[in-house]
Amino acid sequence: MFERESWATRIGFILAAVGSAVGLGNIWRFPFQTGQEGGAAFLLIYLLFIFAIGFPAMLVEFVIGRRSKRNPIGAFKKLGYDKWKFAGAIGVLTAFIILAFYSVVGGWVLRYVGASITGSYFAEPGVYFNAISMGYDALLFHAIFMLATGGIVYLGIRRGIELAVKIMVPSIVILLIFLGIYAFTLEGAISGYSYYLSPDFGFIAEEWTSILPAAAGQAFFTLSLGMGAMITYSSYIDEDKNLGKDGASIVSLDTIIAVMTGFVVFPILFTIGIDPGSGGPGELFVGLGGAFAGLPGGEILGAIFFLTVFIAAISSAISILEVVVSYIIDNFRIDRKIAAVAVSTAIFLTGVPVALDIYWLEVYDELTALVLLPLGMFFLVVFVGWVYKEAAEELSKGTDTSEGIIKAWLWHVRIPMLLIILLVLILNLEQYLVEYAGIEPFLPI
Ligand code: PHE
Repeated sequence: MFERESWATRIGFILAAVGSAVGLGNIWRFPFQTGQEGGAAFLLIYLLFIFAIGFPAMLVEFVIGRRSKRNPIGAFKKLGYDKWKFAGAIGVLTAFIILAFYSVVGGWVLRYVGASITGSYFAEPGVYFNAISMGYDALLFHAIFMLATGGIVYLGIRRGIELAVKIMVPSIVILLIFLGIYAFTLEGAISGYSYYLSPDFGFIAEEWTSILPAAAGQAFFTLSLGMGAMITYSSYIDEDKNLGKDGASIVSLDTIIAVMTGFVVFPILFTIGIDPGSGGPGELFVGLGGAFAGLPGGEILGAIFFLTVFIAAISSAISILEVVVSYIIDNFRIDRKIAAVAVSTAIFLTGVPVALDIYWLEVYDELTALVLLPLGMFFLVVFVGWVYKEAAEELSKGTDTSEGIIKAWLWHVRIPMLLIILLVLILNLEQYLVEYAGIEPFLPI
């Protein structure tokens, strides 16, 4: 056995986990999902899902990671449940596919840092986005993004990840506050807020079979749950940490940042006359692009904004890559450096179709967010709820939380969470198959 690394500072773990959670999911994916699913209705269901399912689900991953001190596949073996390795394997596969498209979007963001300085998208934000989001340009920036992500993982946990995240978290909050104040002064602010904040309950009742799956997928995606990222990160922490408290800070920060993004994006979209439901993956770029074009000093503001988003994206991307790399290191005893280079190259290649044709973005994105993340989480919940005997004991380590609360968590995992995730999974699977495999809807609802 060679020694495993652990976090350099106490706050290092929280920062890194926040770095994993806060990323393109909050700033790019959240606003366009909210737009597609009707604004405030989506926000409400999403928030419910985060607190009722997302937060306890994060603890499910923590108790596996901290106890086993392994990657998501090795963890099951270490805990003595060899047969459950498949649950970790789903995670490693999911990580692979997520990073393949994540890196393409990260590449767009990087491109926009430069394009802000030169004002290249100012004249026609929509046309510019269409030109750079596919083809050789997108491919080049996808390569650069993957190189940067691989580089940080290559250097190892402490030097790379902690440092990057310490800068990113505060800067993103400050920038979003600033942009939020700006958005407040716009003409479309009121329409934007009302779209974002006043839910139509009739609409929820009618559309819940589409809103719930989308909100669940977004919740797992944004909290980095269902594929072992949080198992991996919590495998580097010590017993004296309060998992519940740490989890609560991570979930709150992530949620605050996503919600803040809505306060920036929707007033802008209403002001420049873009329908939030139609923006799709380009919404953030076209919407904010239009706003920066109209702002004095928009070049600098745009560059700073996209640079911050880039850092947020990178700090999430490294957590995704780390899942695959830590598995290769633990399992095959390969040197971290070699593993990082090989895995990054393979993921880059998997992302090539996405960079060449945006059609594949949705195929990859929905396969992971709607199907694979809930599937992975489902097995983790069954495992922690019904199979793994030490889950409650592990959660209570390092805390003075009463036994009642720990028990309540365990029973919440065992029945309500299990059933809700199963429902989401079935709804999502149907939706995905209808959309991409051309089958007829088969559910009675
Ligand atoms: N949570 C990250 C984001 O919001 C994405 C991510 C998904 C990271 C799954 C790790 C695992 O951008």
